[in-house]
Amino acid sequence: MMLIFGLMLLLQTAACLDQFCRFNQSDICYAAVGHKLNLLMVQNTSVYDTTIQKNINYNTATDPVCRIKNDTMRVCNLYSNRPEVTVIKGTLIINRVIRADSGNYTVSFSRSDGTFCTSTDLQVNVEAPIGSVEVSISCSSSGVMRASCSSEGDQLLYSWTLNGDPLMDGNSSFDLNEGTDGNITCSVKNHVSHGQKTVRLKPCPVFSVTVFVLVWCLQLMVLLGLLGGFHIHMRHTSEKSQEDQKLRMRRFRERHEDS
Ligand SMILES: *[C@@H]1O[C@H](CO)[C@@H](O)[C@H](O)[C@H]1NC(C)=O
Ligand SMILES: *[C@@H]1O[C@H](CO)[C@@H](O)[C@H](O)[C@H]1NC(C)=O
Ligand SMILES: *[C@@H]1O[C@H](CO)[C@@H](O)[C@H](O)[C@H]1NC(C)=O
Ligand SMILES: *[C@@H]1O[C@H](CO)[C@@H](O)[C@H](O)[C@H]1NC(C)=O
Ligand SMILES: *[C@@H]1O[C@H](CO)[C@@H](O)[C@H](O)[C@H]1NC(C)=O
Ligand SMILES: *[C@@H]1O[C@H](CO)[C@@H](O)[C@H](O)[C@H]1NC(C)=O
Repeated sequence: MMLIFGLMLLLQTAACLDQFCRFNQSDICYAAVGHKLNLLMVQNTSVYDTTIQKNINYNTATDPVCRIKNDTMRVCNLYSNRPEVTVIKGTLIINRVIRADSGNYTVSFSRSDGTFCTSTDLQVNVEAPIGSVEVSISCSSSGVMRASCSSEGDQLLYSWTLNGDPLMDGNSSFDLNEGTDGNITCSVKNHVSHGQKTVRLKPCPVFSVTVFVLVWCLQLMVLLGLLGGFHIHMRHTSEKSQEDQKLRMRRFRERHEDS
């Protein structure tokens, strides 16, 4: 039973994040694209007539509005063609939030006889939640390690830790000191979600230096080998020519002695 309940809860949270804001809150209401937003209207909507106005030109005649009477949406050009927007017990529910829901809203309450009661403002900022976080480590030709982090989403803030210790904030990529070792974690967050990824660092092969030294050694060896070979060859040919000379001399003498 507990297991099924836990599983249901897990599925529910995975499928859709429930977000709550109050129309009279003074701070910004952040909402994630694709998730469910509950906007508490604060006043009793079965007692008061409620008007939600989206302030585009701050013009009550032209800005879109939604009139709610006795917990029911009546005239509502603000959420026209959006059956996913409902009012239940004084809460405006948007399931699912779209980018166009960003904006500044004014909610006004009036009594059934039409007399104005009170109003309140709310700023809604919609952000795309963070996707999967990717970390890549690259080595430059001089052996410098560079860590880079990437993810999808709006207004991303990056921070890094190395083996659990904070490294630096703010940049999606930076250079690591030579010989840095361990596990590096990139954390990404915005106002509506967060994510992170850890990778194990591998020291950069000091590639170019090694190759340079190797090539240099090889060249030296080949050069020395060539020089040695040439030397032997020279000695060999000179010995040979000396012998030839001796032979010729002997033959010359023999011929002279014969005649
Ligand atoms: C919003 O309204 C509720 C209920 O009336 C009240 O408790 C809360 O203090 C109000 N918040 C602000 C920021 O005015
Ligand atoms: C809202 O008003 C109705 C009618 O007066 C009442 O039955 C209900 O309990 C009120 N709801 C809240 C949350 O105060
Ligand atoms: C408000 O709605 C409820 C049920 O939806 C209904 O019972 C009640 O009579 C309505 N009140 C008014 C004043 O229309
Ligand atoms: C909402 O109002 C605030 C200040 O009151 C302003 O900075 C912001 O740009 C407005 N947002 C929109 C979407 O108009
Ligand atoms: C981010 O990196 C750039 C260039 O690499 C640097 O100028 C800037 O100061 C860095 N920002 C932070 C917050 O460290
Ligand atoms: C890095 O993570 C691995 C596996 O998660 C772990 O075995 C290792 O001890 C960690 N290294 C450091 C320096 O924390």
